[in-house]
Amino acid sequence: MCGIVGYTGNREAFPILIKGLHRMEYRGYDSAGVALLQGDEVTVHKCRGKVSDLEDFCKGKDLSGHLGIAHTRWATHGEPNDINAHPHFTSDHKIALIHNGIIENHLVLRKALEKAGYLFNSQTDTEVLIHLIEDIKKNECLDLAEAVRLALSQIIGTYAVIVISVDNPNTLIVARKGSPLIIGFGKDEYFAASDAAALVEYTRKVVYLNNEEMAVLTPGNDLIVKTIKNEIVPHSIQKLRMNINELEKGGFEHFMLKEIFEQPRTIRESMRGRLSVEREVVSLGGIVEYEERLLQARRFIIVACGTSYHAGLVAEHLFEDLIRIPVEVEYASEFRYRNPVIYDDDVVIAISQSGETADTLAAIELARQKGATILGICNVVGSSIARATHAGSYTHAGPEVGVASTKAFTSQVTVLILMALCLAKRKGKIAKNKYIRLIEELETIPDKVQKLLDNASAIEKIAQYIKDFNNVLYLGRNYNFPVALEGALKLKEISYIHAEGYPAAEMKHGPIALIDENMPVIVIATNNATYEKVVSNIHEVKTRKGKIISIVSEGNSEVRNLSDYVIEIPQTHEMFTPILASVPLQLLAYYVAVLRGKNVDQPRNLAKSVTVE
Ligand code: AGP
Ligand code: GLU
Repeated sequence: MCGIVGYTGNREAFPILIKGLHRMEYRGYDSAGVALLQGDEVTVHKCRGKVSDLEDFCKGKDLSGHLGIAHTRWATHGEPNDINAHPHFTSDHKIALIHNGIIENHLVLRKALEKAGYLFNSQTDTEVLIHLIEDIKKNECLDLAEAVRLALSQIIGTYAVIVISVDNPNTLIVARKGSPLIIGFGKDEYFAASDAAALVEYTRKVVYLNNEEMAVLTPGNDLIVKTIKNEIVPHSIQKLRMNINELEKGGFEHFMLKEIFEQPRTIRESMRGRLSVEREVVSLGGIVEYEERLLQARRFIIVACGTSYHAGLVAEHLFEDLIRIPVEVEYASEFRYRNPVIYDDDVVIAISQSGETADTLAAIELARQKGATILGICNVVGSSIARATHAGSYTHAGPEVGVASTKAFTSQVTVLILMALCLAKRKGKIAKNKYIRLIEELETIPDKVQKLLDNASAIEKIAQYIKDFNNVLYLGRNYNFPVALEGALKLKEISYIHAEGYPAAEMKHGPIALIDENMPVIVIATNNATYEKVVSNIHEVKTRKGKIISIVSEGNSEVRNLSDYVIEIPQTHEMFTPILASVPLQLLAYYVAVLRGKNVDQPRNLAKSVTVE
């Protein structure tokens, strides 16, 4: 996600702001901007690109000022470009704002503000907030802090915001809900940022704002924290103990581990504004205009690579189970060179975390030329694949820095589940009570992922056992076959142990020749339609002295008694097992790689985005 930083005090703000943005670059972003209070207006400099591009952009400009805010944007609404970059400001340049998060009700608010005569420059959700603040401040003759508070009361979604105004020349107004925001205390100066990395070199005295809290930061005034409901609340001053390097990884040893542990939040972000149990609604704004077309599809052709391909295999089960439309899942690299038969009533879905994978991009260009409708499921807004599609849905997992894809996979599967449920309901292919049961269960998945993460230490023990083997076999059936493939990919790409995923039934057709005491076999044996068959496969492995590490649904004792190691996952519907079962396999691969002393975040020979063929 992005980074926000603000400063007010006796020092020049710009150097502090820019260095703060640099300190948060690891979080990933696509554009950057700064606003400085200069005389009777707020001066804004912003552009698409890196913080260094912003610095080049600012060269030769007046960068004086003791009050300022700065932002690195991870676009969610509106392409990454100069106009959509933050800060956003009022037309009279008197107020400026930066925002981290998603305003779900931005369209409704935008329509009302446009009707009231406000002109919008950008395509972002954020811009509604600056005009809403302006509107409330003007019409209700309120001070800035009160206008900000009332505006935020109307926001549905997440925010960490900092607001400055020429009418409050020494003041930062900060508030958060769902996105992090930390306040730093200096000598007659205040700092605010998304991340302690941006302020730790100036102060170690900090306050972490809680959700739906805000504060007015003016040097010389004591800190008072209020709720958005205007109740003053106590706050506790903490002392920062982490160094910069630790801070950038959120206290985790590697980005990959941080991203594994982000998954409860990122799965929620993938569902944000798209799933409402109380209204019994699943909706994906990005495909609404194409829903009719999708429901008439002759078939879905999913093209992807690597982990994204595995998410596509999960979608094959989901879509055929729920929507009853045929699905083909193709390696993009194979599809593009196979001279495939593509009909104009085919729908091609490209799945890609980076949105820049060359083979996937080429595959959809080919399909587009043949008249198919192209959807995208990407994590990077405005990426090449996203822009090459007719429509699509972003996963909103935030930047994935570790080369091994983890949170992107679970977010991709989450979006695919939402898409399948949405289209199945539209097509009348799902009974109401089953639909309700599924969306209620889906809402519990982030907490179930958290429960798995709370038991990560048990996985570390199994990694101790696996780390010295040279080969590992992963077996799964049905919804769990893609999980077997994904678990094997994770292990091989970061620990360099050869690992292979296989349909459990296929073991008899070859791999069983490999089974002996030197071949650990990881079997996903969760409760589903083929559970009994998988148990038979486990027996086949046992009789050949194979070592069994099994993943079972909570409370299963039968497989436990057959296994050398057992990993329990919370009970859930089989459609959601790929999300839960993949988490312990991510952790297993991570711990094995660490134990083998490998470079977890940048494994040898691998790139985060394969933009070459
Ligand atoms: C997965 O851990 C790998 N990093 C790799 O297989 C990756 O999934 C593949 O290159 C596809 O990348 P994309 O999702 O960005 O298109
Ligand atoms: N949703 C806002 C935008 O797309 C903020 C994104 C962010 O958190 O960087 O501009």
